[in-house]
Amino acid sequence: EQAQSLKGKKVLITAGPTKESIDPVRYFTNHSSGKMGYALAEEAEKMGAEVVLISGPSNLPVPTGVKFISIETAEEMYEQVLKYFPSADIVIKSAAVADYRPKQTFQQKIKKKDGNFIIEFERTNDILMELGKRKEHQYLVGFAAETEKLEEHALGKLERKNADMIIANDIMTKGAGFSADTNIVTIVQANQKPKKLPLLSKYETAKRILEEIVQNIIKEDHK
Ligand code: PMT
Repeated sequence: EQAQSLKGKKVLITAGPTKESIDPVRYFTNHSSGKMGYALAEEAEKMGAEVVLISGPSNLPVPTGVKFISIETAEEMYEQVLKYFPSADIVIKSAAVADYRPKQTFQQKIKKKDGNFIIEFERTNDILMELGKRKEHQYLVGFAAETEKLEEHALGKLERKNADMIIANDIMTKGAGFSADTNIVTIVQANQKPKKLPLLSKYETAKRILEEIVQNIIKEDHK
């Protein structure tokens, strides 16, 4: 029996990729499997939290005891996250959200023609940035998938997005990041030395992240 250290807390977690259509048969997505986010949802629930999991397309089973909301696009994720944000105590954004979507979605299948085909993309809303602006009592945790200058980029995101914590994964390292069952993350927070966790299962990584959040919330409550 795990300590119920998140009892009474509402935890909002996002997971998985987003899917942005170009026409009725084709779409853009990324390699996120949802494993990191689903592990966070399962562990948070075990720690006594009331969990809402908002997920892009994933083949994983929904963890028991979790309220599940399925979305496809970055825009749908934005809408659902904003809906649940006001009542959340802790928000963890482990989803890999598209930064760009095709400017135009064609109603009919695009026919092939000779020569190259150019697609114009437009920016999606940055959900984490928006939450940072709206933040009141919420403890806000973002993820950062980086290929270089891990800590520097994570610190930049922490400040720009007004987050309380950034979980940086070095996706160039074997056993870390997208799709794997394991991860290697560095927990980055303001005014604290970054904490690098070893190679762990995504469940164990999730537990460590949640324990770190609990510690910080306890500190906040005693300020
Ligand atoms: O699902 P898995 O296969 O287990 O893989 C896990 C993971 C690698 C996807 C996960 O650990 C992870 O790193 N998720 C974040 C990936 C990402 O999109 O990183 P980013 O640096 O592009 O985005 C930074 C943060 O902003 C993230 O919290 C992201 O959710 C958020 N974001 C990004 C774009 C956008 N339009 N809105 C956002 O809120």
